Formats: sequence, C-alpha cells, structure tokens
Amino acid sequence: MSNSLEVVFVGLGYIGLPTAVVMANHGVRVHGVDVNASAVERIQRGEVTIVEPGLEEQLKKAVDSGQLTASTEMQQGNAFVIAVPTPFKDDYEGDLSYIMSAAESIAPQLRGDEVVILESTSPPKTTQKLADRILELRPDLSVDGADDKPVIHFAYCPERILPGKAMEELISNDRIIGGRTPEAARRATEVYASFCEGELLATDDVTAEMAKLTENSFRDVNIAFANELSLISDKLGIDVWELIELANHHPRVNILQPGPGVGGHCIAVDPWFIVSSDRENSKIIRTAREVNDGKPKWVINKVDEAVKIIDSPVIAALGLAFKPNIDDLRESPALNITKDLAGHVEHATVLAVEPNVSELPKALQNMSNVEFAEYADAIERADVVLLLVDHDEFKTIPAAALKGKTVVDTKGLWR
Ligand SMILES: NC(=O)c1ccc[n+]([C@@H]2O[C@H](COP(=O)([O-])OP(=O)(O)OC[C@H]3O[C@@H](n4cnc5c(N)ncnc54)[C@H](O)[C@@H]3O)[C@@H](O)[C@H]2O)c1
Repeated sequence: MSNSLEVVFVGLGYIGLPTAVVMANHGVRVHGVDVNASAVERIQRGEVTIVEPGLEEQLKKAVDSGQLTASTEMQQGNAFVIAVPTPFKDDYEGDLSYIMSAAESIAPQLRGDEVVILESTSPPKTTQKLADRILELRPDLSVDGADDKPVIHFAYCPERILPGKAMEELISNDRIIGGRTPEAARRATEVYASFCEGELLATDDVTAEMAKLTENSFRDVNIAFANELSLISDKLGIDVWELIELANHHPRVNILQPGPGVGGHCIAVDPWFIVSSDRENSKIIRTAREVNDGKPKWVINKVDEAVKIIDSPVIAALGLAFKPNIDDLRESPALNITKDLAGHVEHATVLAVEPNVSELPKALQNMSNVEFAEYADAIERADVVLLLVDHDEFKTIPAAALKGKTVVDTKGLWR
C-alpha cells in the first residue's frame, strides 16, 4: 500500500514535519504544504526549521531521494494529514480557524476516495466540523456514498510524541485512529501502518479526540492533586515530597510531583477543550486547571514574605523553562513568576537564571531590575534563592552554597 500512497501534509511544524519525514523515508510519496513561505524554502533545501534530534539527517535523506517535496500551494493526493495550530481564545474556546482554512485549501483538490486525517489537538467534534466545512464547499461529495456521490473519508489521529524523542516515538508509539465511519478508520490505519510499529487502535472520531484531551487532563488533574497537597503540607509543616513518596509505596497509588504551576502548550491548554465542550459536567477538570494556575501566586507570596524584611533584596530565580532540561518558555509558570516578582518587588534585584537559553528572554528584557545570570554567581549574590525548575545543573548545587539564604524550593530538589 505504501507505494501507492501519496500523502499531502498540511502544516510542517513540530508535528507535521517529523511525521512527513518519517513517512517519506518509509517509501511513501509525501508532499508538505505550509503557509510559511520561508519555512517551505528551507525545507525544500533539506534544512530543518525546528530543533529535534535526528530530524536533520532524516530530512536531508527524504528530500535528496525525492520522496519529500514541499510548497506553499495545496496539491492533490490520496491522503491529507492536517497538523496546524489549535490555540485557545480568550474565553478558553478552541480556535479552529487554522483547521478551517486548511479545509478550504484541501476542498478544491478532492476527486473522491481520499482520506482526510486531522492530527491537531482539537475539541470534541472538530473532525465533524472539518468534514461539514469541506462538504459545504464540495456538495458533489459525501462521507458515506449517499446519492451515489463519491466518498471522502475523515479521521482523527492524535499525536502523543515527546519533543526531543519524536523520531523514535513516531515509529514506536501506539496510535489511536478515530474514523467518522469504520471505513474511514480502516483507510487512515493504512496510512499509519506505512511507518508505525506501535499498535493502531481503531475507534470513532469523537472518542479519539477525547482520548487525546483525556491523556493530558489526567496528568493535569494528578498534578493539581499534588499541588493541593503541597499547600496543605506547608500549613501542616510537613514535607510534601516525602508525603508523596510514602503514599506512592501503595501498589495502586501513583501521585505526580508538585511544582510552581503547569506550563507548556499541551497540559495547560488541552483540558480547557474538554471544559468548553461541557462546562456543566467538567468540574474536576476545570478545578484542576484553576488549582494549577493558582500555584504561581502562592509561590510569589512565599517570596514576598521572605523579601519584605530586607532593604535591597536580591532574588535568584533558578529556571525559566516550563519543564526540566529544555529551552521552551511557552506558557511557563517559572517565567511568569520571575516577571511578576520583578514587576511588583521594585526594590529587588532579580537574577534570572536559565542554563538552556543564551540571553534574557524577551518578556524580561525591558525590566530594569532584572539581570541574566549564571547560577553559581546568582546564588552567591542572592538573599533569596527561588528554585523554579529542576534542571540537571541545579541538582548538583551543594548545600553549603545555600547556607544563610532563604530558600523557596518549588520542586523539592534540595530537601
Ligand atoms: N508540538 C507538540 O509537541 C504537540 C504534541 C501533540 C499535539 N500537538 C498538536 O499538533 C498541532 C500542531 O502543533 P505544532 O506544535 O506542530 O505547531 P507548529 O506551530 O509548530 O506548526 C504548525 C504549522 O502549521 C502551519 N500552518 C498554519 N495554518 C496553516 C494552513 N492553513 N495551511 C498550511 N499550514 C498552516 C504553520 O505555519 C506552522 O508551520 C497542534 O494542534 C498541537 O496542539 C503538538
């Protein structure tokens, strides 16, 4: 089947590009389409546009062999894979405008018998909306062959790769394949069988959409539970990390770790897509979001308490990324806490430390009381050491370096 497959990828970002490359190197003819002309030009030359270990050599191979081409113009194919952004709007409703504009560009290319697969993380029933939009533009086509019209198959196939391990996990992870119809699931399964060695689990489209959101909401709720325990433990004067470690010795208990809040573009975003689809019944999911979003304020209060008795306090903020050992600052509570502290504790000097970036992030650049610092120097100068991210570098900081400082350790690294 892979030899006869011609797959058009719509969106060549963190998800679309690695997937297109892996498919192309498994013998599938792949064409990538992106609205970003400069990204397309670089991809055409075999140059990577995102940081992902192993991608560069595989991209070169796919382009050199002619299996992967790219352009800004939509083309025909027998399968389409959509991997465009799905941010949320101010009211936490999912913004489907990128998906709808992908639908509008695909619609004129369809001849009948193609499979259109949505990979973007999406609120429930988005695949149906995508199908409705395409069929609105192409009333000569159908999803089920009604009135003898040619059929277009629609499916939802979510992505769960770990950035940094994408090239391995794309092949090894199990995948959920949700068809609008059983035949659509079968057709989408053929596409993923071309490169995926994990299990291919067929279901319907709405279950598949919810499965993706459920995975990230499960983690968000579990982290909220840990964060709530951290507030209660603080009041009781006990160590939350010891508490969780002890509780996790129960064979059926697995509590995640507390921290300064939850960031990034998945766990802090996806639960809202469930909440917005059924506000009345999503009480725990919503509360978990609120608990995790409230944790930064609690951390800020702790630092405020510590600095109020110091004339010209120096605060070392260790870590700005949204999780350990990466340079990604999107939706990062650590960055937001640092910015908030520098903004309202005007008499303080804030030493911002992030070993995975080379300069002060834009969000902090115009703040006169913030300096970009290296961690050993920052700790030496600080009155208050605020640990925000458990980067490997910080694990080796000796207890002696922290002697005489007020330590606010949001990750339990130095307990
Ligand atoms: N990055 C991850 O780790 C990850 C993991 C799982 C799921 N997802 C989901 O996958 C989807 C894509 O995420 P991403 O990280 O790849 O985003 P991204 O921003 O890296 O890439 C999206 C690409 O789509 C292009 N694009 C936008 N509108 C377009 C259109 N109409 N036609 C063609 N191209 C268009 C953009 O120019 C961009 O290159 C999102 O829904 C995201 O939530 C991401």
